[in-house]
Amino acid sequence: MKAIQYSKFGGPDVLQWTELKESTPGPDQVAIRVKAAGVNPVDWKLRSGSIPFSFLFRLKLPFVPGAEVSGIVAETGKNVTSFKPGDEVIGYHSALEGGGYAERILMKASCCQPRPSNVSFEEGAGAPLAALTAYQLMKGLVKEDSRVLVLGGSGGVGHFGIQIARAMGARVTAVASSRNLQFLADLGASEGFAYDDSDYPGQLKNYDIVLDAVARSNPAELSGRIERRGAFLSTLPNPVHFAEAALRGIHYRGAMVESRPEDMRKLMAWLASGEVRTHIDSTFPMDQAKEAHRKSEEGHAKGKIVLVNPSAAQG
Ligand SMILES: NC(=O)c1ccc[n+]([C@@H]2O[C@H](COP(=O)([O-])OP(=O)(O)OC[C@H]3O[C@@H](n4cnc5c(N)ncnc54)[C@H](OP(=O)(O)O)[C@@H]3O)[C@@H](O)[C@H]2O)c1
Repeated sequence: MKAIQYSKFGGPDVLQWTELKESTPGPDQVAIRVKAAGVNPVDWKLRSGSIPFSFLFRLKLPFVPGAEVSGIVAETGKNVTSFKPGDEVIGYHSALEGGGYAERILMKASCCQPRPSNVSFEEGAGAPLAALTAYQLMKGLVKEDSRVLVLGGSGGVGHFGIQIARAMGARVTAVASSRNLQFLADLGASEGFAYDDSDYPGQLKNYDIVLDAVARSNPAELSGRIERRGAFLSTLPNPVHFAEAALRGIHYRGAMVESRPEDMRKLMAWLASGEVRTHIDSTFPMDQAKEAHRKSEEGHAKGKIVLVNPSAAQG
């Protein structure tokens, strides 16, 4: 099988389309013939070796990136009863495990869910990591009629954040660049602001919950906009922000997204009902992953970037 892998940390050019040996699934794993794989900022942050203290992750080189895939089960381990060969699945496990930018991946069966028939392989592959980040940050905090502000509402996490907050019954305001204001409205935001508008952030009102999907803001600068006992949720946990929030009586949550079966099931139900959809910014053939990384690193994806396995068309 072929896969994208890197043998040293660096720029997008370290990504190489390489022939690798196929492994057989362990007792609790399935082997998935990958149709599509989602691209996330964590993939290129790990590739660049630039994440602070990344040596703690003990990423072993050579490494195949990619946390989320869609595809067809090719083989199952001896303990697996939930899937059989031929089943169409969406799977997600830690970005540190990787393996998604490949023609075939081994994943725990518990990290996979059946693909809803109305969701394309590309949409399925692009959903789990970003959508579960938004969901796990808001879960238990966003309630019916909560006023939620989503910063970065046009990106991977943010575009799911708007839809999931709406599905949880919230009233959503979202922020992105001015070229994406209509997109925010299409996703269900009742109000949208452009961060490149000279009046911003003066237009912001008061909110119960701020979901910072850009991870460039902090509870101190937004505290006047967050109700006491409100919450500041960030996609990049920061102990200083935790302290700033505590001082102001604001709840703080910084997520490290996890693959949890109950959350994956909830997401699949939202995708199946059409309440939540993956907006595809662009697709790239998997062997051109370096171009996909360049695009993601620009930081302006409208929804998700997805890799498509060039041999998947052959079934
Ligand atoms: N902790 C975790 O488990 C976890 C999980 C997922 C993501 N993350 C992190 O969360 C961040 C966002 O991830 P993502 O996948 O959503 O990224 P993304 O798809 O690249 O989205 C970036 C968003 O940021 C907005 N943006 C860009 N420049 C901006 C600026 N100068 N001011 C305000 N907004 C700006 C973009 O809006 P426009 O395009 O309209 O400019 C877009 O909405 C990344 O740092 C990622 O590593 C963490």
